[in-house]
Amino acid sequence: MASNHLTGIGRESKQLATWYFTFAAILFGAQLLFGLVAAIQYVMPAFLFEVLDFSVARMLHINALVVWMVFAMFGAVYWLLPDETGIETVGIKIGKLLFWVFAAAIVVVVLVYLFIQVGPADEMSIWFIHEGREYIEAPRWADFGIVVVALGFVANLFLTGIKGKQTGIVTVLMADMIAFSGLYLCGMFFTDNISMDQYWWWWVIHLWVEATWEVYVGALAAYGLITMLGAHRKVVEMWLWIEVTMLFGSGILGLGHHYFWIGTPEYWWEIGALFSALEPLPLVAMFIHVLYDWGKTQGEQDAQGKEVSVIRNKPAFTWFVLNAFGNFLGAGIWGFFHTLPQVNLYTHGTQFTSAHGHLAFYGAYATILVGMMYIAIQGTNGIKVMNHTKSSIWAVSLLTGGMMGMTVALTIAGYVQVLVSRAQMGATWAAYFDGQSGIWFAQAMDWRLIMGVVMFAGFALLAKDFLTTGKAPVHQR
Ligand code: HEM
Ligand code: HEM
Ligand SMILES: [Fe+2]
Repeated sequence: MASNHLTGIGRESKQLATWYFTFAAILFGAQLLFGLVAAIQYVMPAFLFEVLDFSVARMLHINALVVWMVFAMFGAVYWLLPDETGIETVGIKIGKLLFWVFAAAIVVVVLVYLFIQVGPADEMSIWFIHEGREYIEAPRWADFGIVVVALGFVANLFLTGIKGKQTGIVTVLMADMIAFSGLYLCGMFFTDNISMDQYWWWWVIHLWVEATWEVYVGALAAYGLITMLGAHRKVVEMWLWIEVTMLFGSGILGLGHHYFWIGTPEYWWEIGALFSALEPLPLVAMFIHVLYDWGKTQGEQDAQGKEVSVIRNKPAFTWFVLNAFGNFLGAGIWGFFHTLPQVNLYTHGTQFTSAHGHLAFYGAYATILVGMMYIAIQGTNGIKVMNHTKSSIWAVSLLTGGMMGMTVALTIAGYVQVLVSRAQMGATWAAYFDGQSGIWFAQAMDWRLIMGVVMFAGFALLAKDFLTTGKAPVHQR
């Protein structure tokens, strides 16, 4: 990715962005590999037993997920910042230094997860091994490192935003990234009371993915529509403000849908039900927004009256459109399915949750971040109009087809659990195991594994495309 057609204002910031994207792409591959290990263990429980147990493979899978996305998110901000503000990012030298600090810390953390794996469950483990908090397991020393890196990142963004042109996109990002970084603190302290611990942990997990990350995606989509389609900034930014209002309006109190069964007061049932049920609305708005802008640019003509395609980066645009669909489906529809307490009573913690988790993370975030990587490849290679290659088409099809297949398999497995473990047998210990021993469940786990292999093939092609696309003169016009 790090070729050198980057010139002019923002060259340094964009170079830093490509570093972030490269590291993110590598971690994405690692995430899939550990997911495959965990999926094999569902089918063959003895696989890598006592070498890389399920709990460790799963931890690596979902922590790599969060970290690659955060890297790609930082990268995308460093990429778009000079375009939006018209100036080079302020403090870029420190920004670059912090990248290395961040990357080195992550490498150490991953090595510890891989080779030390578990500690004696005391303070030492929390400081040096991991914290036992799903998705954000980083040990405390790394937590402090991450805080320093995040502060540097936010400072870069703010100083640049204040000095340069302040577009709506930059303003939204400034507010959003402060909240996004600040929330991380809620996952850093330890309490002996498990309800309290979960209470704060959800401030990070839920308020990230259903508030701050979604707002971030809105800003990114706005930038993408302007860059790829030449959409009108005024219209795009008007949509953006509407989306931000709706996302925060529903997402913040929607937090209540995680407070149904963890020992928090019962008023959360009503609050969670009401506000989280509203959460799909902004996702519909985001969906319409992308299609609307796309539609508006169809049928444009050149000077000779010939219809021209105005999409300047086809692979990126494909991923952005998938984002609009995927966000709506994975977060909006699959999320809504189980968000009412009456339903969640049956579905809570089943494979249904996993189906939603997979499709939502993929649809809402993986897609748009891969799209941004394509925009960066176009920029770094100085390509005017970027077309699909065979690999880019296969990559997007296999990854997305695999993810859809996996979602269907997990939904079926979840359905079996709801029916057997919850409805028929009443959520007893025995019911938990019965729900997972039937043929429907077992077959669904086989299919999840097969679909995982399909996804991995898609990833291999994506990596190949990243490394080769733009180098071939065919794409340059
Ligand atoms: C892109 C946005 C979203 C992402 C990435 C996401 C991801 C996830 C993940 C990974 C979990 C499992 C957490 C765990 O390990 O316990 C989860 C749980 C849940 N999500 Fe989402 N989600 C999103 C949006 C939504 C929306 C919009 C709704 C509702 C309308 C929703 C409803 C729920 C509910 C009710 C649970 C709890 C499931 C349970 O009780 O087991 N999510 N989400
Ligand atoms: C090769 C493809 C993949 C395979 C084989 C795979 C497999 C798995 C397995 C076996 C688990 C543990 C489930 C459990 O505890 O019951 C898991 C959890 C999870 N994976 Fe994946 N995964 C893959 C790709 C992805 C992708 C692309 C994403 C997101 C973009 C993702 C997000 C998650 C999340 C959020 C969880 C936690 C879900 C929950 O606890 O509700 N995975 N995955
Ligand atoms: Fe949530």
